[in-house]
Amino acid sequence: MQLRHQGADPALTLTDIHFSVGAARILTAVTLDLTRGETLCVIGPNGAGKTTLMNVITGTVTPQQGRVHLNGVDITRMASHLRTRHGMARTFQTSYLFDKLTVLDNVVLAARGSGRGPRGRKAGVSEAAAAHDALGHVGLAPRAQRPVGALSHGERRKVEIAMALVSGAEVLLLDEPMAGVSAEDVPDLVALIKNYVAAQDRSIVLVEHHMDVVLELADRVAVLHHGEVLAVGTPDEVMANEQVQTAYMGEEL
Ligand SMILES: Nc1ncnc2c1ncn2[C@@H]1O[C@H](COP(=O)(O)OP(=O)(O)OP(=O)(O)O)[C@@H](O)[C@H]1O
Ligand SMILES: [Mg+2]
Repeated sequence: MQLRHQGADPALTLTDIHFSVGAARILTAVTLDLTRGETLCVIGPNGAGKTTLMNVITGTVTPQQGRVHLNGVDITRMASHLRTRHGMARTFQTSYLFDKLTVLDNVVLAARGSGRGPRGRKAGVSEAAAAHDALGHVGLAPRAQRPVGALSHGERRKVEIAMALVSGAEVLLLDEPMAGVSAEDVPDLVALIKNYVAAQDRSIVLVEHHMDVVLELADRVAVLHHGEVLAVGTPDEVMANEQVQTAYMGEEL
């Protein structure tokens, strides 16, 4: 099989990331790259440091050591909101939307917040149009005028994907997108995530516990354990890795 990450220039690189809180080492010497068009799944037991790693990438926390590059630009100390302007979008382990606003307004705000589109009154019109388009894409057009608070978990995830679409993000970070989503909504969401990277030069870093979802989406899998990268490779390589199997002993893989 031809691996898409080989030889291509990376969309995102993490180099020797160290992050600790007081005496607790949360991430140690984490080095990873994400190629354009690739879906990289980060897995690992509870407390392994997966969400912290996402926080380092998005700028919610700053590592004490190491570098993060986005499209070749060093963003290690760049504020989170500026990272979105450089083509990054994220969804959270716990959904983070304005419940009282409509679905459409949430997506319009994402279009505006990215700062990547036109400005002024004309921008308002094109933002709304882009938001409608994105909602159509994720199958939520009929829900556009509903308050987000009235949606199911699965629908909320779709809103977040629509937000990433309108923000024009090339690198999308998904922290447990299937959390709380009912089983019948999972295939739809998997298809939407696949679609996202099918478009030109978009890449995804995905934290996921459900191995069936990982196997379906991942080009490569990175295993975190006690804040270190235990293994990186194709899903098959990683599943066959003895250290990985030991790390997961007693846990569902
Ligand atoms: N700000 C913080 N202060 C102290 N400890 C922290 C902080 N953030 C994370 N930790 C600790 O770092 C470790 C990694 O946490 P993190 O949330 O990144 O794990 P995770 O892999 O996302 O876990 P889960 O699978 O439960 O989502 C945990 O032991 C956690 O308690
Ligand atoms: Mg987590």
